[in-house]
Amino acid sequence: MADIHLEGVGHSYDGGETWALKPMTWTWQSTRAYALLGPSGCGKTTLLNIISGLITPTVGRIWFDDVEVTGVPTAGRNIAQVFQFPVLYEGMSVYDNLAFPLKNRKLPRKEIDERVRRVSQLLGLDNVLKRRSRRLDAGRQQIVCLGRGLVRSHVAAVLLDEPLTVVDPALKWTLRSKLKEIHRDTGHTLIYVTHDQTEALTFADEVVVLNEGAIVQAGRPAELFLSPAHEFVGHFIGSPGMNVLPAEITGDGLVRVGEAQIGRAVGEAEAGRAVGGLPPGPVNIGVRPEFVHLTGARTSPGAAATVTGVDRMGAFNLVHARVGEHPVVARTGAESGHRPGDAEFLHFAAERTFLFRDQVRCGSIAPVNGGDAA
Ligand SMILES: Nc1ncnc2c1ncn2[C@@H]1O[C@H](COP(=O)(O)OP(=O)(O)OP(=O)(O)O)[C@@H](O)[C@H]1O
Ligand SMILES: [Mg+2]
Repeated sequence: MADIHLEGVGHSYDGGETWALKPMTWTWQSTRAYALLGPSGCGKTTLLNIISGLITPTVGRIWFDDVEVTGVPTAGRNIAQVFQFPVLYEGMSVYDNLAFPLKNRKLPRKEIDERVRRVSQLLGLDNVLKRRSRRLDAGRQQIVCLGRGLVRSHVAAVLLDEPLTVVDPALKWTLRSKLKEIHRDTGHTLIYVTHDQTEALTFADEVVVLNEGAIVQAGRPAELFLSPAHEFVGHFIGSPGMNVLPAEITGDGLVRVGEAQIGRAVGEAEAGRAVGGLPPGPVNIGVRPEFVHLTGARTSPGAAATVTGVDRMGAFNLVHARVGEHPVVARTGAESGHRPGDAEFLHFAAERTFLFRDQVRCGSIAPVNGGDAA
């Protein structure tokens, strides 16, 4: 196990015209379980392949602890990689497939046997060990691939590239919790690629959000939810995602949405201290539906709105409203009786309402006169 450092690492497939991965400096810490989350085409596989050595980056250097591996081929990096679709020795038995990476490294037969049995038991493969892998369905074959990735003990990292795509949805939950169990057991550094936020949030100690070839935020699931540092994170995580509304910071440091004043602007660096302001001008406010409250009447800073629709989700309702031209969604209790056409008043919880410029968080909202803006 090693810390994996990327130093100015970037990759272009077209000679520098576009960057599939923009040059980045980043460390994957040893023994942690990461999810690498982002939409299709954002560079997840490129990044994994750079770590494993399948791709040599166009720029930058890679270190495993203090050993540089930039020019070292895959075989010399001691990485286990599991791909999206099964890659197996089809003529071999499941047992031999699982034992293969260990035999290759000339481990004693007894240790091989112990490891194979442990991993197959954890993954529910113990009753198919003798079967040829070509006789399993694709989902089961993929579980064998997972096992083969996890069976080794001394690897620098285990890289999993959307490994559960071909697995039956019902089995996915079970396998993900098994993976967590195996992670606790072995202490491997795991990087699990997915474009599914639920998969990422339920699996990882730390979620790394990638968009358009750049890491836009990394943090614990709760941090990404409660404190998005980038508009993309606000949209991509959460269901539905964060509301974004165009607003204005006035000359006296207040935040306005249309005519409505919703609080005082606090610059990012000063956020903890709730003093100071931001330069006046246009800004976006971002607030998740969970932190938009409907009160029916103006009681403190907020914005007048009209209800346009209600989605009844069973456990809660999603109330769709309009502030001027701009749609806003609020999450309310299942019993809330809002109807289309209702005139409402929206409060944005001050500690969960953020300001964004050029998509990057630049500040937050504070109460105006020491009162609660929410
Ligand atoms: N071999 C290649 N040659 C040229 N362009 C490529 C190649 N592989 C990937 N790309 C491009 O690089 C960008 C990043 O691709 P990559 O496969 O890393 O994304 P991804 O996040 O893994 O996407 P997905 O979720 O669809 O697997 C995309 O624009 C893709 O079209
Ligand atoms: Mg991919």
